[in-house]
Amino acid sequence: MTVLFPAELASLETELMSGLAAVEARLRAEIASDYELADITARHLVEAGGKRFRPLLVLLASQFGDPHADGVIPSAVVVELTHLATLYHDDVMDEADVRRGAESANSRWGNTVAILSGDFLFARSSKILADLGPDAVRVQAETFERLVIGQLRETTGPVNGEDPVEHHLQVLADKTGSLIAASGRYGAMMSGASPELTDKIAEFGEAIGIAFQLSDDLLDIESTVSGKTPGTDLREGIKTLPVLLALANGETDARLRDLLNKPLTDDAEHAEALEALRVHPAMSEARVVLEEWTTKARTLADSLPDGDAKLALMTLCDSVAYRSV
Ligand code: IPE
Ligand code: IPE
Ligand code: MG
Ligand code: MG
Repeated sequence: MTVLFPAELASLETELMSGLAAVEARLRAEIASDYELADITARHLVEAGGKRFRPLLVLLASQFGDPHADGVIPSAVVVELTHLATLYHDDVMDEADVRRGAESANSRWGNTVAILSGDFLFARSSKILADLGPDAVRVQAETFERLVIGQLRETTGPVNGEDPVEHHLQVLADKTGSLIAASGRYGAMMSGASPELTDKIAEFGEAIGIAFQLSDDLLDIESTVSGKTPGTDLREGIKTLPVLLALANGETDARLRDLLNKPLTDDAEHAEALEALRVHPAMSEARVVLEEWTTKARTLADSLPDGDAKLALMTLCDSVAYRSV
């Protein structure tokens, strides 16, 4: 995902780039370990890259107060480390082989090492938080609780009588929206922005976070260049929004229904379902839902104080809605 900031934001962009470079340096310093295996497995995905979307949001949110305040860079490192830890765990749960264009940790070292490496990153993230104070620790704890519950509810699926699409959107808010909301919250909070403004920025983060996951799930079906294996959710039988909408559509034929209702471990069946889904009207219906969440995020951004940072957040909404990676 490339964020194409308009020319008038050039000086903010330069500032953001130097902030991200500081995050990068600190990130690498924070994951170093004398114990070689932990050092290697932690470095593996940090060095593989990633979009650094959450640190970017911390930096942007900090523009609403003093962006040079002490806690800004450390909290950006905290959210990236937390995110990374969840990726190690998520790839175990989803049995994913590829992450950030590299072999996943579970695929390279097995599930046990991947899970413990995720825990190692959580530990390091908590250590930084200890210096940021109890409020920052509480945000992390509450966020992590939501994230875990989101992943659990995704695993169990909707309970009897629960609308599958409603359930799914709640899962996205919890597993992804929560940490992106926390990123906005940390940036604003650390920069000394008012509590009211901090809450608004967090609300924006939650909405753009849901949009971010919705677009990720569309890309999982459409794209071949995401740095992940396309159709991983489908293979695992995880029903993302396009699948739920295809199943809710009375016109969907029995064959596709059958395929979408089970994990697709068979390569031929997996390819067949992926192909049928790509041309199914459910894809554009899912795009409409993505648009709704992007619009919600844009409206929230629009209610923030005028200035370059607000314009940048509006640009971020377009980048999420129309991203191709
Ligand atoms: C992947 O997050 C998990 C989702 C919430 C979709 P990112 O798309 O931010 O992954 P990286 O950090 O760029 O690898
Ligand atoms: C992303 O889960 C959310 C978390 C890691 C908490 P997904 O399983 O939807 O994301 P990808 O597609 O593997 O990145
Ligand atoms: Mg998952
Ligand atoms: Mg996954």
